[in-house]
Amino acid sequence: MAQKEDVFKKIVSHAKEYGFVFPSSEIYDGLGAVYDYGQNGVELKNNIKRYWWESMTLLHENIVGIDSAIFMHPTIWKASGHVDAFNDPLIDNKDSKKRYRADVLIEDEIAKIEEKIDKEVAKAAKRFGDSFDEAMFRQTNGRVLEHQQKRDVLHSRYEKAMNDNDLKELRQIIEDYAIVDPISGTRNWTDVRQFNLMFKTQMGSSADATMDVYLRPETAQGIFVNFLNVQKTGRMRLPFGIAQIGKAFRNEIVARQFIFRMREFEQMEMQFFVRPGEELNYFNYWKEARLKWHKALGMGDEKYRYHDHEKLAHYANAATDIEFQMPFGFKEVEGIHSRTDFDLSQHEKFSGKKIQYFDPELNESYTPYVIETSIGVDRMFLSVLCSSYEEQQLEGGDTRVVLHLPKALAPVKCAILPLVKKDGMPEKAREIMDMLKFDFACQYEEKDSVGKRYRRQDAIGTPFCITIDGQTVEDNTVTLRDRDTMQQERVAISELPRIIGEACSLNNLLKKLV
Ligand code: GAP
Repeated sequence: MAQKEDVFKKIVSHAKEYGFVFPSSEIYDGLGAVYDYGQNGVELKNNIKRYWWESMTLLHENIVGIDSAIFMHPTIWKASGHVDAFNDPLIDNKDSKKRYRADVLIEDEIAKIEEKIDKEVAKAAKRFGDSFDEAMFRQTNGRVLEHQQKRDVLHSRYEKAMNDNDLKELRQIIEDYAIVDPISGTRNWTDVRQFNLMFKTQMGSSADATMDVYLRPETAQGIFVNFLNVQKTGRMRLPFGIAQIGKAFRNEIVARQFIFRMREFEQMEMQFFVRPGEELNYFNYWKEARLKWHKALGMGDEKYRYHDHEKLAHYANAATDIEFQMPFGFKEVEGIHSRTDFDLSQHEKFSGKKIQYFDPELNESYTPYVIETSIGVDRMFLSVLCSSYEEQQLEGGDTRVVLHLPKALAPVKCAILPLVKKDGMPEKAREIMDMLKFDFACQYEEKDSVGKRYRRQDAIGTPFCITIDGQTVEDNTVTLRDRDTMQQERVAISELPRIIGEACSLNNLLKKLV
């Protein structure tokens, strides 16, 4: 566990050192849970977004995109339920004056018990070696069973309190399990209160004409309120989808785990409108399709799992998360929800406008049902970064840090490196750069030894390094170094676009999805 936390810390500092992610407003000591993307980060992020956007809009003839405004009429958030129910239970410690999410404090307590179980298992595995039967050990070891029972009792109390929205019981659990503030170490807690996560601001300039508006906490509502606009102007027939990528804002109480939980983040959401009664077929279709999208990146099939929701929101009839194995455990990266006709019906009710679809095949009008796929760009970015990061021990005692990024997502596809700054090599290198730059993100580097330049490119995940040497000037060949294997091969300059294109092509990635 400690080792995994160390790796995560290293990933966070690597992200900063190599221009992927910076803390926001850093020269003013930062702003909690807000981050900026640097020169490499923005390219990686844009590639993730392109992969998603094209998988939706190019590969599905019946999915179109929109880009709705962040500000929307405040009644939208009343209709969607966010004004009344988009809350987190919070608790303050009177000594440290720090605020916590009550549910997170309890979840941390559950995680501590699970850690104890894992430690027992790890100890036994070491003791018994190859003959160790983990499943049997977990079922029979007295100490493990004791911890497991404690965990299960706590978990079911916690789950019930959350489902019943029982703030008193959450407070009681914190009391009963003697949960202390990690900073003050005391149990001097306030009551648990509800805290709405939406950011509010005013629109308008004169005091009497201002209106309270919210920064949207999800992009989905921008799609729902444009359902008729898109359906009519695009002459869309059910089933069809509307995709959108955009910023969302949540005043998260607990800012943790780097870009995993942010106050300003980006979502890629798609609402798929279907005939009532057909929604569960489409739910299963999207559940599979979205996992396939993740797995096509080649980051390891074993790093994903579904988490089907047992307790559903009152308007949903199916929901699942796609979780990814982060260094801090399996965590939700994407949600797939069957939201019935809740959102469109609510907007019909609150706006007083009819929001229905006339189905020419059935010759009747109805409110479509909706399957939503919703993925956080930043969480996707984090999963790519975490699974790509590797510290390698090389022969001869040397080490390197390499990002094995999926090649189609890498911020820079190839580095162009003249071996020395003379003998016509820089000029030749520039010629190659001019040939490749229209199709690939290239970086030209001539400073430092070629070994140091290779390391810098490994650290940002550049799939190929092209080295221009004395022979290049004579026969128009270069050495092409592969990031992952570090193998070098001599290839003709004229072959470069084909080789790099095949390896880094987004189209080839998209072709895996059909
Ligand atoms: N429209 C549905 C919706 O917003 P959600 O589960 O609240 O559902 C969807 O959010 C996705 O947005 C999550 O799976 C996660 O990837 C991302 N997300 C949510 N809150 C986030 C936060 N505070 N920071 C970063 N990403 C977040």
